[in-house]
Amino acid sequence: MDTQIRMVMVVVVVVVAVVAGTMEAALGSVARFEPADSYLLDCGAQGGSTKADDGRIFKSDTQSTSFLSTPEDIQASANGNASSPLYQSARIFTEQSTYTFFVSQPGRHWVRLYFLPIHHPYYNLSDAVFSVTTDRIVLLHNFAARNVATPVFKEYLVNLTSESVSLTFTPTTTSIAFINAIEIVSAPDALILDDASALTPVGADFGGLSQYALEVVHRLNVGGPLITPKNDTLSRTWAPDSPFLAIPSAARNVSVSPGIITYPEGVSPLLAPNWVYASAQEMAESGVAAPNFNITWELPVDTSFSYLLRLHFCDIVSKSLNDLYFNVYVNGRMATSGLDLSTLTSALAVPYYKDLVVNASALTRPGNMLRVQVGPMGEGSTGGTPNAILNGLEVMKMSNSAGSLDGWFSVEGSRIISSQGKGSGSKLAAGVGLAMALGAIAGVGAMVFRWYRRPQDWEKRNSFSSWLLPLHAGGHSSFMTTSQLGSHKSGYSNFYSSTLGLGRYFTFAELQEATHGFDDKVVLGVGGFGKVYLGDLDDGTKVAVKRGNPRSEQGINEFQTEIQMLSKLRHRHLVSLIGYCDEQSEMILVYEYMANGPLRDHLYGSGLGPLSWKQRLEVCIGAARGLHYLHTGAAQGIIHRDVKTTNILLDENLVAKVSDFGLSKTAPTLEQTHVSTAVKGSFGYLDPEYFRRQQLTDKSDVYSFGVVLFEVLCARPAINPALPREQVNLAEWALQWHRKGLLQKIIDPHVIGSINAASLKKYVEAAEKCLADYGVDRPSMGDVLWNLEYALQLQEAASSAVGEDDPSANHILHQQRPPTVLDTTAKGSHSRSSSDDESGPTLSSPMFAQMAGCQGR
Ligand SMILES: *[C@@H]1O[C@H](CO)[C@@H](O)[C@H](O)[C@H]1NC(C)=O
Ligand SMILES: *[C@@H]1O[C@H](CO)[C@@H](O)[C@H](O)[C@H]1NC(C)=O
Ligand SMILES: *[C@@H]1O[C@H](CO)[C@@H](O)[C@H](O)[C@H]1NC(C)=O
Repeated sequence: MDTQIRMVMVVVVVVVAVVAGTMEAALGSVARFEPADSYLLDCGAQGGSTKADDGRIFKSDTQSTSFLSTPEDIQASANGNASSPLYQSARIFTEQSTYTFFVSQPGRHWVRLYFLPIHHPYYNLSDAVFSVTTDRIVLLHNFAARNVATPVFKEYLVNLTSESVSLTFTPTTTSIAFINAIEIVSAPDALILDDASALTPVGADFGGLSQYALEVVHRLNVGGPLITPKNDTLSRTWAPDSPFLAIPSAARNVSVSPGIITYPEGVSPLLAPNWVYASAQEMAESGVAAPNFNITWELPVDTSFSYLLRLHFCDIVSKSLNDLYFNVYVNGRMATSGLDLSTLTSALAVPYYKDLVVNASALTRPGNMLRVQVGPMGEGSTGGTPNAILNGLEVMKMSNSAGSLDGWFSVEGSRIISSQGKGSGSKLAAGVGLAMALGAIAGVGAMVFRWYRRPQDWEKRNSFSSWLLPLHAGGHSSFMTTSQLGSHKSGYSNFYSSTLGLGRYFTFAELQEATHGFDDKVVLGVGGFGKVYLGDLDDGTKVAVKRGNPRSEQGINEFQTEIQMLSKLRHRHLVSLIGYCDEQSEMILVYEYMANGPLRDHLYGSGLGPLSWKQRLEVCIGAARGLHYLHTGAAQGIIHRDVKTTNILLDENLVAKVSDFGLSKTAPTLEQTHVSTAVKGSFGYLDPEYFRRQQLTDKSDVYSFGVVLFEVLCARPAINPALPREQVNLAEWALQWHRKGLLQKIIDPHVIGSINAASLKKYVEAAEKCLADYGVDRPSMGDVLWNLEYALQLQEAASSAVGEDDPSANHILHQQRPPTVLDTTAKGSHSRSSSDDESGPTLSSPMFAQMAGCQGR
C-alpha cells in the first residue's frame, strides 16, 4: 500500500518535470534571435549606459557620439516620472542633424523612435516641429511635439540595402527637433516575406513587399493580455484587442497554455510569441445551434495609406480536426472564404498566419476605420461547428509613392502630386491618398455638420471643464494633470495625432477669416462660455467653431489638458474635434460640422421629412456605438451624462454621431455640482437612481439612451408639459402602455405601418431594459447595441422576404429637405408615407387617428 502510493508519486513528479522541460523549450530556447545589427541609443543621457524596462542596454550619448554629426551639442534631462528610463533624457537639434549607422547585413531593420518633450531651461521642446527621414523614407513629416503629452513610440520596419543608414532630424525653420531614444535593430528575414495576398481581387498575389517601408500601427494579442517587450524575443508590444471590438458581447476570449502551441516546420516561432497564439476571441454563442453573426474589430487608421495586415490564427477551440471553417472579411470584403485551419496546419494548436495587402481605396468607407471581421460560413456550409476565431492582428502602414509614411512629401522635400508608383497597388493608394490628404489638411474631409440655433442646448455651465468634457469614470489619476505637465507648455493629442492628421493647430487669424471676424450672423449657438460659429475654411470645408469667452478665468493649462483628452476620443460615431487655437489666450475649439443637424429635428417639430424605421434603427445603432466606445474604448471609461436626441447629430449621410460630450467635471468635484446639473437641461432623460443616490455610473447613460429609444419610436419629446399629467414624461408613459400591451398605440404613425413585429419586439425589449429602475438591472451599452443590431437584422430580413428593399428609405432621402413648407402637418405626411411604406409583415394599426394628439409639438 505504502509503496504503491510512493510509486505513483514518483511517476507524477517525473511527468511534471517532463512537461516543465517541454514548456521551457517552447518558451525560451526555440524563439531566440541574435540581430546582426543592434544600435540602442539613449539620446541625451550622460555617463554610463541605461537599462531599459525589458533589460536591454542602451548606450548613453557620450558612448554614441561617433554616430552623430551635428553642428551643436545640446542635451536635456528630466527627473524620474516618465514611464521608462529612456524618456528621461533627450538630444536637441536646432539645425539638421544626422545619425549614421553601419549596416552589417542588408534586410529589414526595426527603426524605433521614442519621443517625449521633457523640460529644458532654454529650449521649449513642446514647440518643436520637425521631420525625421532615413536616406530614402520619410518617417515623420512636420511632427509637432505640441501634440505630445504622453510618451510617443514609433515603430518602423525599413528594408536597408546599402552599407549604412542615416537618420536625419530636420527642424522647421523657426523650430527645433529632439529625440529621446533610438533603436536600429535587424529583424529576422523570415518576418516579412516579399509576397502577400491582395484583398482585391480576392486571392490575387501581391508581390514586391520588400520595396515598401512599414510602420506598425496596431499589434494586438487577440483575446489575451498585454505582452510587453520582456515577453517577446523581438521586443515587440502586443496590446489587448478589447478596445477595438465593435460588439464585445459577440466575442468570448479563450486561452490555453502557451506550452501546447506547436510551430510547424518552416514557420519561425519569431513570427509571434506562443502567448499570442494561445489566446483568441471566438463567437460568444458558438455553443448554440446556428449562431449567425460576425466578430468585428474596428481600428483607426490613416485611410490615405495602404496597409499590410497580418492575421494570426491557431485553432485552440476545436475538439477535433475538420470542425472549424469560417470566413474572414476586411472592410466588408471577403478576404478568405471558408478558412480551413485543419487542412492548412494538419493539427490543432498549430499557428498559421495570413498576410493581406489592403489598398487605401478599400478603406474609404466606413470612416477612418479598418474593419476586420470573422464569422461562420452560414447556410449550406459543410458541417463543422459554426464558430470563428482570431488570435492576433498586426496592422502595418505601407509607404506611399512619395516614399513616405507620413504625408506626401518625399525625402527631398518635394510634394508628390501624381504617382508614378510601381504596381497598381501604389497607384491606387496615391490617387485615393491625395484626395484624402487634401481632406485631412482641411481637418476632416467629407464631413459637414450643422448646429442649429438652439440656445437651450448651450445653457450656462459652471466650469470650463463642463464646457468641453465628458465625465471621466475612473477619476483623473492616470491622466495628465497640469502639474504633471510641469512648467513647459504642453499640447493635447496623442500618438494618433500625427498618424491620423488630427488636432490641427489653427491661427487666430485663420479662424477670424473663416468666421468673417466672428460675425454674429454665422452664430450657430450661444453658451455660457461663448458662442459657436459656422466657419468656412480656405478649401471650402465647413466647421463649427466654439470660442471660449477670453474673459473666462479658467486657465490655459486646463484648456490644453482637456483638448488632449478630447482628441483621444476618436470614433466614427463621435463628433470629431478637428483642431484648436490658443493664441493670445484665446480658447477655441474647431469641430466637424454635421449637415443634417440633431436627430430630434428628424423626429418631430421641425418640418423635416420623417426617417424610415430602418433609418431610425441605423441612427440608434450609430449612437449606441459611439456611447459604447465612450464607456469602454478609452483607457478609462467615460460617462457622457447628457445623452439626448439633440446631442445626437447626423452627417450628410445620416450617420449618427454623439456630440457635446458631457456636462460635468471629473469625479472628485462631482459632489459640488451634481445638484445643479441634475436639475438642468436634460430633464426627462435623467437616471432616477442617479437622482436618488447621486452616484453616477455608465448605466445613467444607458437610462438616458432608453428614453432616446422611445423618443425615436414615438416621435415626441422626453418631456412635454403641455400634455395631460400622466403623459408628460415619455419614459413613464411608454412603459405604462407597454405593460398594458398597447404600445402600438403610441408609436409614430409615420413608421408604424412598416415596422416588422419581431424587430419592434426586440427594440422595445432593449428600450425597456435600459429604463430599469436600478443600474445593475440595465444592460451595458454593448448589449443594447447588440439588441439593436438584431432588431435591424430582423427588419431587413422581413423587407427582403417580401422582395422589397424598404422603399421608404429612398423616398425619405429625397424628402429630407423639403424646400419650402415649414409646417408639414403630421397627418398629411403620414397618410402619404404609410401607403408607401408597405413592406414586410407589419403591425396592424387601426388607430392612427388617435395619434395626432400624441405628437409632441
Ligand atoms: C476574458 O473574458 C473575461 C470574462 O469576460 C474577462 O474577465 C477577462 O478580462 C478577459 N480576458 C482578456 C485577456 O481579455
Ligand atoms: C511572460 O513570461 C513569463 C514566463 O516566461 C510568464 O510567467 C508571464 O506570465 C508572461 N507574461 C505575459 C504577460 O505574458
Ligand atoms: C459578416 O460581415 C460581412 C462583411 O461585412 C457581411 O457580408 C456578412 O453578411 C456578415 N455576416 C453575418 C452573419 O452578419
